[in-house]
Amino acid sequence: MHYASSAEPSAGGSLDPAGPVAARMADLWWWLLALATLVFVVFLVALTRSLLQRRRPEAPEPWRFIVGGGVVMPVIAVGVVLVLTLNAMRQIPSEIPPGAVAIEVVGHQWWWEVRYPEEDVVTANEIHVPAGRPIGLQLTSNDVIHSFWVPTLGGKIDLLPGRVNTMVLEADDVGLHRGSCAEFCGLQHAKMGLLVASESAEDYQAWLAVQREPASATSGSGQATGAAVFMEAGCPDCHTIRGTDANGSKGPDLTHLAGRLGLAAGTVSNTSENLLEWVGSPHDVKSGVLMPDPELSRPDLEALVAYLETLE
Ligand code: CUA
Repeated sequence: MHYASSAEPSAGGSLDPAGPVAARMADLWWWLLALATLVFVVFLVALTRSLLQRRRPEAPEPWRFIVGGGVVMPVIAVGVVLVLTLNAMRQIPSEIPPGAVAIEVVGHQWWWEVRYPEEDVVTANEIHVPAGRPIGLQLTSNDVIHSFWVPTLGGKIDLLPGRVNTMVLEADDVGLHRGSCAEFCGLQHAKMGLLVASESAEDYQAWLAVQREPASATSGSGQATGAAVFMEAGCPDCHTIRGTDANGSKGPDLTHLAGRLGLAAGTVSNTSENLLEWVGSPHDVKSGVLMPDPELSRPDLEALVAYLETLE
């Protein structure tokens, strides 16, 4: 399924929750802010009193101040923080519940591989989920440590090479949520974005049905030229286009590239001009990216882009 190009992800952050996990965490944040404000006010009152009392001859006994301010108050404050935090943790599922939508996320420098193991679907940088259902994420990394963070849906979790972490998220309503990598992972860490599209059950199933399909066969001679350029320029060493001989796995699966909203992990929107610039000179768009410059002539590049744009 396609989003209108006008579809904008919500600009909300973690205090603008759009799911139960994010809501619990936002609640906790407000409680902690209230507690910190209370501690600050008590501190200001104590400071003011002590400044005024310095002029008085009868100072209070120092041990009372040390025990009260140095032991009793911190134990109460930290105790309340502990209880609030444990209570929030208890409400956030740590294990994937039965019936959750299974999604595997693999971090790469600098993009997200997204797999639906039960649906035989592989995509990149855009996660489609049905609204109102728990999503069981299993996350790992292919290279360095990354961190998955979609603020409106939940907290961060690290993607570690050689280890699988799990996380449960849920989106209340249909909407588009912006996420990013939250652990410095190299030169283009800042351009490792992702989108979570929460959809109605029907739209989600329609999206899955499209994603399961192999790429549609090329229809015109221009597209056939582009497909030949793709095969000869070395693209299949890294990219898969299901339904063709391209089955590389170092870079994103491109089978349904044209149906995505963004390019290069959300670096630019998915328009013809951006696609041409990105494919033609990837290092100008995302310096340091692992994709090599394909060094194509202008006609070949245009044919390649025309072909890629058919991959809906
Ligand atoms: Cu991946 Cu920062």
